[in-house]
Amino acid sequence: MCGIFGAMGNGCVADCLQGLSRLQYRGYDSAGICVKGEGLSTYKSVGKVSFLMDKIPSNANGTVAIGHTRWATHGKVSEQNCHPFVSYKGTFALVHNGIIDNSKTLTTKHLSGVTLSSQTDSEVVVHLLEKFYQGSSLTSAVKVMEILEGSYAIAFVNAKENAIYLMQHNMPLVVGVDKDNNHFVSSCIKCLPSSCTKVAVSKEDFVAKVTRNSVEFYDKNGKAIQPNWSKLTGSLLAASAPVDKGKTHMYTEILQVPTSLQNCHAHFAKCAGIGLSKVQLRHFNRIYLVGCGTAYNACVSAAVATRGLLDVDVIPVVASQFVCESYPVNNKTLALCVSQSGETADTIVAAEKLNAHGAFTYAVTNTDNSRLTFVCKESINICAGTEFSVASTKAYCCQLLMLILLLVDVSYATGNISLVEKQKVYSTAGLLPSIANNILAKQSSVMQLAKLISTSSAVYFVGRGADYPTACEGSLKLKEITYIHSEAYPSGELKHGTLALVTKGVSVVNICTHSGLVGKASATLNEVATRGAQAVSFSPYKMPVGNILHLPVVHPLFAGVTSVIPLQLLAYYTALELGRDIDMPRNLAKSVTVE
Ligand code: M6R
Repeated sequence: MCGIFGAMGNGCVADCLQGLSRLQYRGYDSAGICVKGEGLSTYKSVGKVSFLMDKIPSNANGTVAIGHTRWATHGKVSEQNCHPFVSYKGTFALVHNGIIDNSKTLTTKHLSGVTLSSQTDSEVVVHLLEKFYQGSSLTSAVKVMEILEGSYAIAFVNAKENAIYLMQHNMPLVVGVDKDNNHFVSSCIKCLPSSCTKVAVSKEDFVAKVTRNSVEFYDKNGKAIQPNWSKLTGSLLAASAPVDKGKTHMYTEILQVPTSLQNCHAHFAKCAGIGLSKVQLRHFNRIYLVGCGTAYNACVSAAVATRGLLDVDVIPVVASQFVCESYPVNNKTLALCVSQSGETADTIVAAEKLNAHGAFTYAVTNTDNSRLTFVCKESINICAGTEFSVASTKAYCCQLLMLILLLVDVSYATGNISLVEKQKVYSTAGLLPSIANNILAKQSSVMQLAKLISTSSAVYFVGRGADYPTACEGSLKLKEITYIHSEAYPSGELKHGTLALVTKGVSVVNICTHSGLVGKASATLNEVATRGAQAVSFSPYKMPVGNILHLPVVHPLFAGVTSVIPLQLLAYYTALELGRDIDMPRNLAKSVTVE
């Protein structure tokens, strides 16, 4: 979604623009910056941060700079709706992430006579700051927070002060400090400069005043509080994220899958498993796996793969659906809440609902100190390494691996498998990195298949049993970055309706990792070919028609962890063939921090 960055002192403009460049994977509709020099100067541009850079005079400088990358929620993509916004008397400039639910009511009640220049909810806040301002920016911020409803991370500057003020409610906003005690503001820990050695994070709502060399935190009533200070390690820092020359983040991240799986496996071992006692685990009679998008697909895949190992229900749920439906929850419910970013609003709200009904919430994320880890009672890191590409790849593989390992731990604790069986599963998981490497070695064949797929009018992904969630993930990846229409179906469902759409020009991608399902998969492919569609298979086994990429045979529990890799590559190479902007696909953003 949107991104906020703030820097102070000499060079603040360049620092802020660099921060925005790191943040733009989270939203890239438009970007803007406000520089406090003699007065407040704002610069805005539709599109990428590089367009904004082109608009800023080379001699622009000041003492404070705040900037924003936008993913539009209220109002179309335009310079008018681009942050920062300046208050009606020109005292304040502000950037905002999140949604102000009561912006219309507040405008009517407090801002009569003020002309709004944009269609955004965010602009209302800067005028409210001006309205309540009586000489103290902090007091004005506290007063405004009292009446705001919604979720927000806000940074604002006062034209008369060398400081950045922050307001946070249910959205991430952190202060990083480098070894020379320079302070930076960012809505994403991973986008702080690599020189930062520590970071201040607050689980609670707060207001803060940040100067070049200091920071003061206050609660929502204006009482001084202490934030949590954490050391920053290299693994958290984004600035050094490697992108192979001329390649995208997505491609780099697919190549990192083997290492990520290795780190994920090692971290699980280091944590000695799920970290809950046998007594606790035996108490649960229902397990929900909650997530959105790719994280949800990992939930489904893990639930299907471990189905025979548990005698309690393991139920994958789309987080946004969980919030609206009446799923049974009580203190015998374990909920594994899965989110790469740990910031996804739908998943966080679902976790809050689960907490409120007595469930034991357990975050499975790729981001320590993320909001989901604060909301959930326990958490574990999947250790995929920072993921920038909007299309999630290595995180999916690690989410799935981690979920399977956690559920196998539950299976052992509840007496469904023996210690020897559990250990065998763990050692089998250790083979996955080399299997992933073998699959990556087949890239050039996937590239050829992508050429075929790129000419399709629609692509249907099909699989049976544990291969169905893999099909879902393959389809999501393809539509996300190629814009080719794509859906996934359990293979058996094709003949119950969708076959009507399977004609010449359409491709059907078949995933079959189970020897026992080859007969049925072959029948599906024959039906498809008969209707003139192009068939492409990913399988260790011979298929009767169409092109095939041969996969290695993998233990059924983990087949989904590696069979998805060629589908990620297929999406990548198809998008490349079509000339798409792979790391910044249209209308999307990396972290979806609004419901
Ligand atoms: O950060 P999260 O894992 O919570 O994100 C959930 C989804 O928004 C995310 O997986 C999305 O579906 C990806 N863009 C898919 O590639």
